[in-house]
Amino acid sequence: MSEPQRRGVLERWAEVLPITPQTPRITLGEGDTPLVRSVAIERELGVDELWFKLESSNPTGSFKDRGMVVAVAKAMERGAQAVLCASTGNTSASAAAYAARCGLEASILVPHGRVAAGKLAQAVAFGARIVEIEGSFDHALTLARSVAGTHPIALVNSVNPDRIEGQKTASYEICETLGDAPDALAIPVGNAGNITAYWKGFVECAERDYASLHPRMLGFQAAGAAPIVRGEPVDDPQTVATAIRIGNPASWKPAEQARDESEGLIEAVSDDEILEAYRLLAGSEGLFVEPASAASVAGLRKLNREGGLRGGRVVAVLTGSGLKDPETAEHANTPKVVRATATFEGVERALGL
Ligand code: F0G
Repeated sequence: MSEPQRRGVLERWAEVLPITPQTPRITLGEGDTPLVRSVAIERELGVDELWFKLESSNPTGSFKDRGMVVAVAKAMERGAQAVLCASTGNTSASAAAYAARCGLEASILVPHGRVAAGKLAQAVAFGARIVEIEGSFDHALTLARSVAGTHPIALVNSVNPDRIEGQKTASYEICETLGDAPDALAIPVGNAGNITAYWKGFVECAERDYASLHPRMLGFQAAGAAPIVRGEPVDDPQTVATAIRIGNPASWKPAEQARDESEGLIEAVSDDEILEAYRLLAGSEGLFVEPASAASVAGLRKLNREGGLRGGRVVAVLTGSGLKDPETAEHANTPKVVRATATFEGVERALGL
């Protein structure tokens, strides 16, 4: 029999992670997410290959679990009994899940009224203490950092280097599955931890001879929340992609480094472009993602229209599940619903048969 899958990030990638024999080997089965070839958007873009890394397949429905499992394990190793994060939703869902699993207290700071319903439902279900602040994610993160600096509570935002270490494992998986690094990687950018983590992973893969090349890192911010593109913080960021509604990313500098060292780019996509890609991913690829995740595909389509997309093999990271944000699903789509009487003929008529 083949080896059981889903051993979890800590066990599977132990040799590339900062763990010791004392690090508890916790897992919810994160990592080893599918890399699925495009059937429609690849043709539109005219690239040789387009692949989607389905990070929505992680246990809490987003890529955060890869980093959270390492951050929580290391916090436990250091004796922590409580974790804290600021979040636009997914980090808090993930922190709350691992805390519940490991018997830790989780407290989350979220911007009031700006977190998608599915993510909040997860935090509630996992029993986290939820603090809603009147302010943006950026305010919440500043507050979380100072509270964690003063009290014995582990900060599990991506400013914690253990998070970056865990998230870099996605690059290793991509190189393993494709047999090499791709030519380009498209990824949404919010607080900019994930682009930083992927780049670290790809650099390491090249050093370890798991890959013969570095991909160009193509990062995409929402136009109303695009501080890196504009070159200055955005005070009141706005976008339908609430996960990346961030005006002053904590990993700003490393994200610029990833962009520059990889000869890539970080550009902006409008909410309309994000929602178009969101509908296209669901309708033509069968991939229901949350709006922030669609930013990577929106960005590739925009680059292609502008003639800036080179060919080759491209991977788009689909960071989170569409189920996280039912309100957007309802508003951005037109349902094909008809009422029918509960009879054979009624259903025939409704189906036009
Ligand atoms: N996609 C999704 C679904 C996210 O939840 C996030 C970030 C990103 C992309 C951007 O990643 O911040 O590393 O650049 N969500 C954070 C949160 C901020 O609190 O859940 P990033």
